[in-house]
Amino acid sequence: MSALLSCFGCCGGSEETTPPSTTRKDEKKTTENKEQQQKSATSTVAQKTTATERETNVTVSNKPKVLIIYCKSRFSYREDQQFNFFLDSTYGHIKKLADHVKKGLEKSGSCDVELFQVPETLSEDILKKMGAPPKPNDPVLTFENHDKLVNADGFIFGFPTRFGAVCAQMKAFFDSLGHLWQKGSLNGKLASFFFSTGTQGGGQETTAWTAISQLAHLGLLYVPCGYTFGSEMFSLEEPHGGSPYGPGTFAGADGSNQPTPYEVQYAEHLGKYFATVVQRFH
Ligand SMILES: Cc1cc2nc3c(=O)[nH]c(=O)nc-3n(C[C@H](O)[C@H](O)[C@H](O)COP(=O)(O)O)c2cc1C
Repeated sequence: MSALLSCFGCCGGSEETTPPSTTRKDEKKTTENKEQQQKSATSTVAQKTTATERETNVTVSNKPKVLIIYCKSRFSYREDQQFNFFLDSTYGHIKKLADHVKKGLEKSGSCDVELFQVPETLSEDILKKMGAPPKPNDPVLTFENHDKLVNADGFIFGFPTRFGAVCAQMKAFFDSLGHLWQKGSLNGKLASFFFSTGTQGGGQETTAWTAISQLAHLGLLYVPCGYTFGSEMFSLEEPHGGSPYGPGTFAGADGSNQPTPYEVQYAEHLGKYFATVVQRFH
């Protein structure tokens, strides 16, 4: 049968066995059918595409998601009211840098950004005795919200130095991620840091090192800034925090020092730089 059909196909058949009028009608019908099938297939695809586009527009952002997670300041130097040092530093040094890192990420236009504080580990009573400044309004990244970490592409952590190391509050946050570590949920995501110390030589780089081990265990990829901020990083003209490990600021022994223009610009640069790196991995 197939041999027969192929023979008709090749020689066109004979007028006796296959009248030309019938062939043309059949051909016309076949062509019409094909056109109809094509039309309906096209419209089905169009409908599907439109539905997908609609879904995409409504629910999904294609941009990488970056979370800035910082430690709120608890330390006040104002126990004695003769000092007014913290009057324009209600939110602390790390919070200030965090806002500039956010600005940099937002300016890149290529990321979705959210800013979080880590949960408090001290009681209200102790905080009161310490004279801790009021808490910023940024949301706290509680255990219940850890799915935000799983759904993100990168993290920028900010913390003050305590005795040359990452502060206990941030360490407690890292420690709370054991369940995500167990599932490997954070493997291959990106992470950077920014810091604050009281003084030069107070340990910004040793603080970075104590935090790098957290990243290694969690499977996070460290994104140091290197010397991407430019030649000013080599300048000795005025004291400034920060290093190839990330931006930083010096609060001063009494906390009165505010982040310098260099330091806030470096914080903003971290945001922009991180955006380019996370985009490459996306
Ligand atoms: C218990 C404690 C330990 C500290 N250890 C250091 C330190 O090792 N090196 C340093 O330069 N500053 C040290 N500081 C100063 C803080 O790092 C500084 O107050 C902080 O970075 C200011 O940032 P904030 O306003 O966001 O809290 C320490 C402060 C406290 C309360």
